[in-house]
Amino acid sequence: MKVKIIAWFLCSIVQANSIQLNNENVTLNLTPGENSIGISLTFDDQEKLSGQIGLTTNVDIPDACEGASSCYIQNGNVNLTVDSINSGFSISWQSNDTEITFQDCLDLSRAKMNWFGGPEMWQADWPIENLSIKNRIYTTTKTDNGAVGERYWLNSKGSFVFVNDKVPLFLDQNNLKQGSICFISSLSGPYIGRNRVILEYNLVAKSNAKEAHLYAVNNFLGKPQGHPDEWIIRNQIWTTWAKYKKDINDDIVLGFAKDIADHGFTGQIEIDDYWETCYGSLIFNSEQFSGINNTVQTLKDLGFTVTLWTHPFVNHNCEDTMTYGQEHDYFVKSEDGGDQTSWWNGNLSHYIDFTNEEAGKWFIDRLKLLQEQHGIDSFKFDAGESDYPPPNPVLNGDVELSPNSITSAYVRTCATFGGLIEVRSAWRTQDLPIFVRMLDKDSRWGLNNGLHSLITSLLQFNLNGYVFVLPDMIGGNGYVEAPTAELIARWTQANTFMPTLQFSYLPWDITSDDFDGVAIIKKFVALHEEYADEILNAMNNSITDGTPVNPPIWWVDPTNADALKVNDEYLLGEKILVAPIVEEGSTSRDIVLPSGSWKDGNDGKVYEGPQILKAYLAPIDVLPFFIKQ
Ligand SMILES: *[C@@H]1O[C@H](CO)[C@@H](O)[C@H](O)[C@H]1NC(C)=O
Ligand SMILES: *[C@@H]1O[C@H](CO)[C@@H](O)[C@H](O)[C@H]1NC(C)=O
Ligand SMILES: *[C@@H]1O[C@H](CO)[C@@H](O)[C@H](O)[C@H]1NC(C)=O
Ligand SMILES: *[C@@H]1O[C@H](CO)[C@@H](O)[C@H](O)[C@H]1NC(C)=O
Ligand SMILES: *[C@@H]1O[C@H](CO)[C@@H](O)[C@H](O)[C@H]1NC(C)=O
Ligand SMILES: *[C@@H]1O[C@H](CO)[C@@H](O)[C@H](O)[C@H]1NC(C)=O
Repeated sequence: MKVKIIAWFLCSIVQANSIQLNNENVTLNLTPGENSIGISLTFDDQEKLSGQIGLTTNVDIPDACEGASSCYIQNGNVNLTVDSINSGFSISWQSNDTEITFQDCLDLSRAKMNWFGGPEMWQADWPIENLSIKNRIYTTTKTDNGAVGERYWLNSKGSFVFVNDKVPLFLDQNNLKQGSICFISSLSGPYIGRNRVILEYNLVAKSNAKEAHLYAVNNFLGKPQGHPDEWIIRNQIWTTWAKYKKDINDDIVLGFAKDIADHGFTGQIEIDDYWETCYGSLIFNSEQFSGINNTVQTLKDLGFTVTLWTHPFVNHNCEDTMTYGQEHDYFVKSEDGGDQTSWWNGNLSHYIDFTNEEAGKWFIDRLKLLQEQHGIDSFKFDAGESDYPPPNPVLNGDVELSPNSITSAYVRTCATFGGLIEVRSAWRTQDLPIFVRMLDKDSRWGLNNGLHSLITSLLQFNLNGYVFVLPDMIGGNGYVEAPTAELIARWTQANTFMPTLQFSYLPWDITSDDFDGVAIIKKFVALHEEYADEILNAMNNSITDGTPVNPPIWWVDPTNADALKVNDEYLLGEKILVAPIVEEGSTSRDIVLPSGSWKDGNDGKVYEGPQILKAYLAPIDVLPFFIKQ
């Protein structure tokens, strides 16, 4: 990348170079010289030294900035402003030269630190300091499951970085510089139509990771204004997708629902995938669904609510809808004027421009008509990532928020349908009272998009400020391989203390000679229902004070080094600790208990934390969980 910095001169240096924090001095050092640490936060007590944030920049800090914490520099086409803010510092590079690239790298490898936050990923490692990310366009992306990724990185020492929404951001981690995360700002890729390059971020330091995160939620990320509909928290979602894929019709949906009801379950039935005449018409296919009115009525008589899968695309073969959309200029166009794009169900498709209010209304009105005509309760809204519209999209609104603004606009349009909906992508929409679903999981065990990643994705969503997490289908989607009865049993357990349970593969279809899978599923669905008030209570707390609904276990013991590393346990609120089995064939595991007294949810025994329970026994019908006394 090209860097054009020629000469620097100093305009002003203001203020002292340290702030006071919990009786410690936190110092921001601007150090001149090439290849040196450009900006670092240093804590004055020895122990905290390991917690410093080291930053290197690709532009030299001028000599005159040495030792300053507030420094403003201009050299004609580049401004650097460094300022003290509450509990930290703000750093801002700006240039009107659109060819310039800024690159600031943060040292992740300082001893004894863990990092959290960052994007949703297919390989869902946690903590995140070892992730490898190669110069990725840091927007909501279908690539690598990046549907949820705020510009927020938090460390175990209680510092965080929050990068401004307007930065044309690329992210590079453990690639250009091993042990570093680099924030790169450049007007390439989808960042079109802008007339300046900026790299702005805040560095904030608090006394521990919990305090820092609460500060981030209340000052940067935002917190929810309400919670999703209680109905789906107390009951389950049953989607036709994994079991039937695209081949659905009235009889299949009815048979699926009756089967579920016959086994004593209820909740929300999701008619998932090909129910339309063509993708995007939003009209029921009269061959497969000639009796849809009856079907919906029968599902309701059985006690279910009914949702339809939908998406923001209009395929080319939906001629009437496409023509109408084109005539009204309702589709996103790329820089060159083309409005064609592709997705997994169509290579000739169009994307509704939700940044155009009229286009959003067109989408809403057609969905409302479906509700009125057929009695549909709500919708599952798929896709929404910013790389589904045509490349280099021209959107309405602030060009410096593009292309992520298409994700926000879509999600906000969907949210007008209320608390029974789900979306799967999100950007700066933490305030909405809706479920955000994890990307489709695979029917396997590991962090490679299998069962273990259910927990790490949960933690990543919660630390991005999306606390109403809809875990993906129990047992995964069966894309590569089908789930086993053991996987379904362990998946249900792992999911029990998350906000809701979503099934597609039916537990009585996939059985084992070794255990009664259906009895296990019933036991944990009942346990989930028993704790529904606790889930709602945790949601209420997230609304009032920003506490995650499902935090990592360090939340209740933020300086416990063992707890900070854990990626196979989670909390519900601040009182329930869950430690599922996520390894095939395993019937015991080590459990990290943070400080406090913990009552075993299975046998009532009380353990004093912090301690590690070695080889805790958990046969196939046991989920280890503990209640803080
Ligand atoms: C950068 O552009 C802004 C807006 O056009 C203008 O006000 C400012 O003077 C420019 N700065 C420089 C250093 O060219
Ligand atoms: C640099 O900062 C000055 C003072 O705030 C402002 O007038 C100017 O437009 C800025 N230049 C750029 C390139 O942002
Ligand atoms: C990251 O890598 C280092 C060095 O290989 C290793 O010691 C550490 O345990 C790893 N951390 C995580 C969270 O995987
Ligand atoms: C789109 O094109 C690709 C490459 O030719 C093909 O593999 C894929 O099946 C097509 N998708 C659809 C939905 O037609
Ligand atoms: C369903 O009922 C609506 C009226 O509520 C009617 O307009 C529509 O044609 C019916 N659909 C079918 C497939 O019977
Ligand atoms: C959550 O808050 C709502 C609104 O204040 C209240 O009606 C409800 O009882 C609370 N639920 C729980 C479980 O605390």
